[in-house]
Amino acid sequence: MSSSARVPADAPVADPADLRDDAERMTAAELAELQLTRLRATLRHAYADVEHYRRSFDAAGVTPADCRSLADLARFPFTTKADLRDSYPFGMFAVPMDQVRRIHASSGTTGRPTVVGYTENDLSMWADVVARSIRAAGGRPGHKVHVSYGYGLFTGGLGAHYGAERAGCTVIPASGGMTARQVQIIQDFRPEIIMVTPSYMLTLLDEFERQGIDPRSTSLKVGIFGAEPWTEEMRREIEDRLGIDAVDIYGLSEVIGPGVAQECVETKDGLHIWEDHFYPEVVDPLTDVVLPEGERGELVFTSLTKEALPVIRYRTRDLTRLLPGTARPAFRRMEKVTGRCDDMIILRGVNIFPSQIEEIVLRTPGVAPHFQIELTRQGRMDRMTVRAEARPDAGAELRDAAVGLIAQGVKDGIGVSVEVRIVDPETLERSVGKIRRLRDLRP
Ligand code: DLL
Repeated sequence: MSSSARVPADAPVADPADLRDDAERMTAAELAELQLTRLRATLRHAYADVEHYRRSFDAAGVTPADCRSLADLARFPFTTKADLRDSYPFGMFAVPMDQVRRIHASSGTTGRPTVVGYTENDLSMWADVVARSIRAAGGRPGHKVHVSYGYGLFTGGLGAHYGAERAGCTVIPASGGMTARQVQIIQDFRPEIIMVTPSYMLTLLDEFERQGIDPRSTSLKVGIFGAEPWTEEMRREIEDRLGIDAVDIYGLSEVIGPGVAQECVETKDGLHIWEDHFYPEVVDPLTDVVLPEGERGELVFTSLTKEALPVIRYRTRDLTRLLPGTARPAFRRMEKVTGRCDDMIILRGVNIFPSQIEEIVLRTPGVAPHFQIELTRQGRMDRMTVRAEARPDAGAELRDAAVGLIAQGVKDGIGVSVEVRIVDPETLERSVGKIRRLRDLRP
């Protein structure tokens, strides 16, 4: 970004193209050349400085010199979360500890956390990609950014924080929780931008209404939502109730944190991957074969510039597909992530993702966007119950109709029978960060 590009805070937010940095203006050929140079350096760094990679490359019979084109990357072995766990806490770090400036960790669902580290340059690159993401979302120097992602070992809060500062914004480091106070701060400090999980945004929306404040009357113009899957139906719900543009930010700690990919506000058509730093592939999760652009599979990332924790072909478990660039033509897009391999429910032989249930619940009249999925077993039969909350103004008739509509929607759209319960308003657990939709009570 050129330092003279200062746009007043009240400039229209839906015109982000003027603040593109040099990399965002590259041609596809220039980008590919940069990627290859960076990829080869990363492979050399990983092989020379991380025992795990030395062993895994040797076992696969490849050395960094075997990478002569971007396609050659497919010859290198994958890295998984288990590899990071096995080297807990710092075994995958590629630089001496005195060069590591920060550590983050993600708890995951089982066992040891995954630990990630950053050098000074890594932190600066991270701030750059988050700043680029904020600009793509419509953020401008002078805007105030309210960060409700959790601060701490989770990468969301601090990642958003330093990116917003780098973008020339004023950061309000609210972190997660203390919902009533968040609403007061938004009212009093008047931020233009909020960065938060979409599920916690819903909690905040309810709190606005509880306090008698029309959410559409706030200063907010843009929401940058990520850290969990969310659907187009959820986008509409949030945009309508809050009167903002809602865009998607993606990332994971192992690759850097938030800011791996970002949806542009002017197109809202999936997330541009910041490919000058993170090289994407999509593979068939079962056969491991690299899939062509446009085909759905598991997203895999290779870092191109990271120093402390280079990752080679890291299996994200996230399901998506690659698409050509639009608002940033050199960068490919990833379709909104609607599920993880790990989140897939197999119910009586049918594959179901919680996001499919979200779509159905959110288009049902009289039902609030709060729902939970419960799996139980009766005898040898697995059963799924969808619990969804009634909207405060929904009467008995609407609630009864909703039971039928959701059950029929799941039957028609997914092909399984489920039990549906419409519960009273404000009875389901609210999110303060990443939401857990699924409760698996099967033995
Ligand atoms: O969730 C980083 C992040 C923070 C991203 C804030 C965006 C905003 P982890 O805790 O390591 O890192 O979790 C990473 O979260 O593999 C996806 O399954 C999921 N995820 C992240 N962003 C999205 C998104 C952060 N936009 C895991 N859509 C990833 C769907 C997402 N899933």
